[in-house]
Amino acid sequence: MKLVIAPANPAAPNFVGELSGIDPTKPLAPQQISAIEAGMARFAVLILRNQPLTDDQQIAFSRYFGPLEDATGDLVQGEARRLPMALNDISNLDRDGRIRARDDRARLFGLGNRLWHSDSSFKPTPARFSLLSARTIPATGGNTEFADMRAAWDTLDRATQSEIRDLVTHHSQLYSREVLGFAFTDADRERWAPVRQRLVRRHAETGRLSLYLSAHIGEIEGLPTPEARALLRDLTEHATQRERTHAHVWQQNDLVIWDNRITMHRARPFPGDEMRDMRRTTVADEAPTLQQAA
Ligand code: OGA
Ligand code: MN
Repeated sequence: MKLVIAPANPAAPNFVGELSGIDPTKPLAPQQISAIEAGMARFAVLILRNQPLTDDQQIAFSRYFGPLEDATGDLVQGEARRLPMALNDISNLDRDGRIRARDDRARLFGLGNRLWHSDSSFKPTPARFSLLSARTIPATGGNTEFADMRAAWDTLDRATQSEIRDLVTHHSQLYSREVLGFAFTDADRERWAPVRQRLVRRHAETGRLSLYLSAHIGEIEGLPTPEARALLRDLTEHATQRERTHAHVWQQNDLVIWDNRITMHRARPFPGDEMRDMRRTTVADEAPTLQQAA
């Protein structure tokens, strides 16, 4: 098998690649790992088709790219969880595999994924890569869209670039869910105290700058809240213009890997009475963004 990475979307030739010629259920050789790393640094999103994985296989493959996060960002914890802590449960299912009711709290919390975001930006050390495995998909809908945040930075006008270059943002799941009118308990509020991140960051592998936006941002240091939120809306609108985005149409057993440092993504709606079982492993970044090179 020869490892091949080819552009997957002619309209976004430097953003989304399709990776073939590896078996993620088997141990990888160092050259394979570095080829995948190089593909990630070039494209930011890689698609692997037709890769049925067990949870353990997904975890083992993901670990080649760094230490994994625990799914502490999931609302559902402890006994009520369906999946091991190394997997974020991106499904509409309860512990027994039943489709959650429309007003189910975990389902409503999960709707936060419909807002453009970067995974775990609300953790002090946020996510490096996410690996999302499509175990069961609905017959229609449920695409995942990606936005290229390097292109978002590059296409900002100079004045805006210098105005925002050194800004520091506050991220929390409270902010992203507040936008949807989700009701929090006091315990939730304690769990998700905001963390500080850079608004503009430098990609470790390529040195490129990117806009580090996420629906989890609620404040910008030094700006009054309404001004911060108006600016965040403008920047998000700029970043998610069609020409800088890609819609992934899922097939069962797709595995999609994205670099959260240089992308945002969002889920698209699907019929609520259909099953959608997606499982995510998440590779942690090296440090909080403020401790990384500017
Ligand atoms: C995620 C996520 C989007 C989707 O897995 O982090 O936001 O389409 N998923 O399920
Ligand atoms: Mn996500």
